[in-house]
Amino acid sequence: MKSFEKKVLCIGAGYVGGPTMAMIAAKCPQYEVTVVDIDERRIAAWQSDTLPIYEPGLLDVVKIARGRNLFFSTDIDEGIRHADIIFVSVNTPTKTFGDGAGRAADLQYWEKTARNIVAAAESDKIIVEKSTLPVRTAKAMGRILNANDKGIRFEVVSNPEFLAEGTAVADLENPDRVLIGSRETEPGLAARKEIVDIYANWVPAARIITSNVWSAELSKLVANAFLAQRISSINSISALCEKTKANVAEVAHAIGMDSRIGPKFLNASVGFGGSCFKKDILNLVYICENYGLYEVAQYWENVVRINEYQEQRFVRTMVRVMFNTVADKRIALFGFAFKKDTGDTRESPAIHVAKHLLAERARVVVTDPQALDNAKKDLAGAGGNVEYHEDPYEAARGAHAIAVCTEWQQYVHLDYRRIFDSMEKPAFIFDGRNILNHKELYETGFSVFPIGRTALKHF
Ligand code: UDX
Repeated sequence: MKSFEKKVLCIGAGYVGGPTMAMIAAKCPQYEVTVVDIDERRIAAWQSDTLPIYEPGLLDVVKIARGRNLFFSTDIDEGIRHADIIFVSVNTPTKTFGDGAGRAADLQYWEKTARNIVAAAESDKIIVEKSTLPVRTAKAMGRILNANDKGIRFEVVSNPEFLAEGTAVADLENPDRVLIGSRETEPGLAARKEIVDIYANWVPAARIITSNVWSAELSKLVANAFLAQRISSINSISALCEKTKANVAEVAHAIGMDSRIGPKFLNASVGFGGSCFKKDILNLVYICENYGLYEVAQYWENVVRINEYQEQRFVRTMVRVMFNTVADKRIALFGFAFKKDTGDTRESPAIHVAKHLLAERARVVVTDPQALDNAKKDLAGAGGNVEYHEDPYEAARGAHAIAVCTEWQQYVHLDYRRIFDSMEKPAFIFDGRNILNHKELYETGFSVFPIGRTALKHF
């Protein structure tokens, strides 16, 4: 049997663990990379051509390495015994119970994994935090791991993941930076070097940065908080634009040309979603409160509040302009994923929009090229009248309104004349992503309600 230079294990085969390990394996044929998970179906999917997550380009990367030096398994204990380096990428959702419910990170899966590692390990290992964790978690983990009577030493390193869904392959292949935090002791620095060496196989040295563990842990939360803050900032301004006839896209363009501000992440929208932003900000808020930093906590909490305000504002506008009632009206949601190029719907603003419309007794029709299965789960308990169609033309047939909730490019290129002809009149479009050609739609006969710019109405 071929002997590998390093044996890398990843516990958790989700959106972060799977793609990250696939990239490491593809770039480093000299390492053996194994991904384990308790979920048998998920592991089976990673072994098939229908991966458990939709991510453009990922299957090609997996295929380079699968069976060569990339393996998927449910035998977690054997994986732990065999590995030198263990990445832990289990989920750390927001707590739903007890102190910190709704804010703090629920660390039970993390701690169980740590205990599992201690129980199965037979030799020293480096443990890499890949999950997003509260600052100072590494310390607690180090204690749990090193409180063993087998004489085994574990060194905990933080290597937060900054990839975004939909662009995971490009983000992993060509990251802005890779951050590795460790203790600044001799064993800590040695472990840091081991992890740096992995990424150095394809990431330029200048983009691999190192820090102490706490900075690395905190940087992940802060990066997401800053990104979300930009969206809430521009979304708050979109409300003002609608009142003043300013155009939020023009404002974003004008401010984004200031090199200190920069042009990215300034698209006003129905709101941000995804598994990270809200969770990480609330976690940051909780940590600040714990340290008595109430003003700081409140500052960041408002980023989440503005996002909720934006989601609500979008649906309230729909109801108001549709003559203050949507009861029994058919409304087509174009897109349910939290952004384009993913089937993920976690914290998607579309969930809020759909539920709010159902509460108003509208008949909701959901269309999405990738997220219909998740949409069905998200709306399972919501009651009311919901239909699902893969074909947007079917979804829009007989509808009073279309609400664009996800910026899928295919929605830009639909035949809106055909759609208009199949709809009830007056026909409304609410463009929650500002991706459509509003003037053309207006000329076709639609009344058009974008985000942050003047509506084009036929009445
Ligand atoms: C985010 C971070 O970008 C990534 O670095 C981190 O590792 C995980 O969290 P992700 O949640 O996959 O990634 O998506 P992202 O592209 O950041 O978008 C988040 C949400 O913001 C989406 O709902 C998106 O539609 C929305 N968004 C983004 C806007 O509304 N406007 C923008 O200008 C940009």
